[in-house]
Amino acid sequence: MTKQSKEAASFIQGKINIEPTVGLILGSGLGVLADEIENPVTIPYNEIPHFPESTVSGHKGQLVVGQLQGRQVLAMQGRFHYYEGYDMKQVTFPVRVMKEIGVETLFVTNAAGGINKDFDPGNLMVITDHINNMGNNPLMGANDDDWGPRFPDMSEAYDRTLIQHAEQSAERLNLQLRKGVYVGNTGPAYETGAEIRMLRILGGDAVGMSTVPEVIAANHAGMRVLGISCISNMAAGILDQPLTHDEVIETTARVREDFLGFVKELLKTLPA
Ligand code: HPA
Repeated sequence: MTKQSKEAASFIQGKINIEPTVGLILGSGLGVLADEIENPVTIPYNEIPHFPESTVSGHKGQLVVGQLQGRQVLAMQGRFHYYEGYDMKQVTFPVRVMKEIGVETLFVTNAAGGINKDFDPGNLMVITDHINNMGNNPLMGANDDDWGPRFPDMSEAYDRTLIQHAEQSAERLNLQLRKGVYVGNTGPAYETGAEIRMLRILGGDAVGMSTVPEVIAANHAGMRVLGISCISNMAAGILDQPLTHDEVIETTARVREDFLGFVKELLKTLPA
């Protein structure tokens, strides 16, 4: 696996002439952010050695490397989900590759269902912590000490300074920012009403089908992480209506400008 991530990293480094230090993982409907990157070098996942290929609609499946707000960034337009059938090592492979390339700060974004009844669809939420409800962990199996320790600390999985930075950035923009705990489920089925009631009791504010594996791998590798959820719908059983992927995509499209403005502000004033 280390050999594979090194090969993928060298391949990417051969195509770019900058050294990105910020990684962006763009979730469902949020890939538009990559279109804002200046002097972009676009690398489809299927050209990168050992990279899996993305399958879900609303995701493009390519890396976009360039400048955003004066930062050198490497963005994933589309990610690999556990529910697509990839194993946890594949899901987190791009994070390993980012680390090899020199990425120190990772922004993870996703669309999520609101469990917290105070939330509204279209809200942005900074992730303060997560609950791994996937029944698996990307660090299972032999540990690669070059990547990180056997038993990595997860007590500050989401960097406290970056959470504060997110709150201050939102304030400057006059943007209502929610804060909360993200629950990572496998999907691909949306939850039942009973499951959402359970997750609320457990302390979840939002639920989605991604992010947790990547954040575990990033912490293992010593990267600092900022997580942002776009609340694309209220989770099952809260409103008397069915959940659809179309609603997720529609809501993320509606908050596009808020999301873009927010991430740009976060990058512009990113603390060292
Ligand atoms: N549940 C799980 N994943 C999701 C949801 C949801 O309600 N909305 C967007 N991703």
